[in-house]
Amino acid sequence: MLAERAYAKINLTLDVLGRRPDGYHEVDMVLQTIDLSDLIWLEDAPSGVIEVSSNAANIPTDARNLAVAAARALSAACGLARGVRIRIDKQIPVAAGLAGGSADAAAVLRGLNRMWQLGLSADELAAIGAQVGSDVPFCVLGGCALATGRGEQLRKVDHDLRAWVVLVRPPVFVSTAEVYGTLTPDRYAPAPASRAMIPALLRRDFDAVRRLSVNGLAAATLARYPEVRQMWQRVEQAAHVPVQMSGSGPTLYCLLPARSMAQRLYNALRGFAREVYLCRFVS
Ligand code: C5P
Repeated sequence: MLAERAYAKINLTLDVLGRRPDGYHEVDMVLQTIDLSDLIWLEDAPSGVIEVSSNAANIPTDARNLAVAAARALSAACGLARGVRIRIDKQIPVAAGLAGGSADAAAVLRGLNRMWQLGLSADELAAIGAQVGSDVPFCVLGGCALATGRGEQLRKVDHDLRAWVVLVRPPVFVSTAEVYGTLTPDRYAPAPASRAMIPALLRRDFDAVRRLSVNGLAAATLARYPEVRQMWQRVEQAAHVPVQMSGSGPTLYCLLPARSMAQRLYNALRGFAREVYLCRFVS
């Protein structure tokens, strides 16, 4: 039995640059790992059997579960037919814009690489992860990175800015495919915000990082899900600092420079929101 942590991410930036011939969108995103995590347990199973179970009732237990897809993709890539039982202790909200499913898939790749002694590099695992989902390669590497292409092409951003993150999950499940599907070309960004965001991170300029965070999917998600719009307004009123959305949503976040400030905001938001989390950047 082997355990592996699966960390969530937030988008510090998300710019959509255009639509690609393969139906995906060309994106430019600065992704940041945070210390909200699932715990993945891996245990040998009879040959060919890949099973998943979880404390969360609302995740699929068949091949739609990205953890299962990852185990299958790794087996296929290495020409193996080994079985594995995967247990997911879920903390990361599901379908929330935090790459929870992708984080689980990445943890399965990292964990099985150890358990099956495959000796694959992080880049090799990331390439296999790209077959499973656009965010999986980032979750294999973790930390902070610029993600381009459909999100699978990564360049590490080695910053040591410390920041606290207060997350609020509005009570709605968002489909990433639907949000991208409703995106119109007027939402495409002419110049990605990452160009200014990355230097701000590298010079540890917290105020600039908070000011520069953007999300080119936010308008589409807000238009489709009124619950997210309402929550955004309430958080903005309570926080007195900028609010941003992660991924295709619905999770909203605020960045704070100190734990005491983050704790105060957490307490205030708990007054009206059921799902609030206090986290920090993980490098
Ligand atoms: O890659 P993943 O399976 O996470 O993507 C889910 C859906 O989100 C895709 O089927 C596609 O509709 C949309 N998507 C997109 N452009 C991206 C990433 C995702 O259009 N860069």
